[in-house]
Amino acid sequence: MQERFIMDLLLLLSLSVLCVSAEQEVENLSGLSPNPDRDIFVVRENGTTCLMAEFVVKFLIPYDVLALNGIDLITEQASVSIPRGAQIAGRCGSSESELQILWNNHAFTFRIFFSKEKRTLGSDGKAKEAEVWKINKVQLVYNTSEGTHFINAYNPGKHTASTHHLSALVTPAGRSFVCSAQQTFTLISSDHQKGITVSIYDIQIQPFDIKSDFVFSEPYKCITDEREQLEQMLPLVLGLILGLIIVITISVYHFHLKLTAAQQPQLPRDRSLYKNM
Ligand SMILES: *[C@@H]1O[C@H](CO)[C@@H](O)[C@H](O)[C@H]1NC(C)=O
Ligand SMILES: *[C@@H]1O[C@H](CO)[C@@H](O)[C@H](O)[C@H]1NC(C)=O
Ligand SMILES: *[C@@H]1O[C@H](CO)[C@@H](O)[C@H](O)[C@H]1NC(C)=O
Repeated sequence: MQERFIMDLLLLLSLSVLCVSAEQEVENLSGLSPNPDRDIFVVRENGTTCLMAEFVVKFLIPYDVLALNGIDLITEQASVSIPRGAQIAGRCGSSESELQILWNNHAFTFRIFFSKEKRTLGSDGKAKEAEVWKINKVQLVYNTSEGTHFINAYNPGKHTASTHHLSALVTPAGRSFVCSAQQTFTLISSDHQKGITVSIYDIQIQPFDIKSDFVFSEPYKCITDEREQLEQMLPLVLGLILGLIIVITISVYHFHLKLTAAQQPQLPRDRSLYKNM
């Protein structure tokens, strides 16, 4: 009877685990995200999605302005984000793809370059080759003549800022990268080697192997998010362990009571028995 109950319980548990994992297989993203700053960028080729990204991005761009004395230069900082309705372009290849976002009459062009490669994973004897994709370059082209973000820029003009030797968001091939924590890149600008900060967060991105139109493949979580998830799970796990300890303690105590009761010499009830001893 008891065994039957335990078997049913196990069956129920494994079924619910199955349901949860099946649900995580794909994510339907036709609905907009609750974050108003988060936008969806989609590149389509041959009538289907080949690159899809959803994120919030902020740029901090230093630029020179002339000081009041008309001689010295001071550095100001422009904070830029991508407005809704930006123009999206890009291209998809089998091992290289690119997302391009243009806004403010082409005063800004943000490009993310992706590549796919074979990697040896695991260091010890069990090393195996696996395919991964990653971001290998991030680039921002900006025009400091644009007057809403750059106020009285000195010697205004177009500049290009890029990363060098980047290898970021490394993800197993066929999966989408998911991270709510912030990822920061520093781009070096053609404008006097100034450092431009690009911060991206609330990310879901997939540049290759999208199986169906507008649907991300199975997510691959960044380490920061995984740690957070673990921290949320920890109280539950601790509670379960505590519960188990209590059950074991009670069982042992119960068993111990029974055992001592069995070992105690049975006092003869009938006094007449004493006489025979
Ligand atoms: C995603 O959800 C919307 C409605 O929320 C639905 O119309 C659409 O068919 C779904 N797409 C997929 C691929 O499940
Ligand atoms: C789209 O079609 C062209 C020509 O048939 C092909 O070269 C290209 O790889 C296709 N693109 C995708 C993303 O499948
Ligand atoms: C930069 O913007 C200014 C003002 O909009 C424009 O006149 C100029 O041609 C732009 N520069 C480039 C290289 O596009």
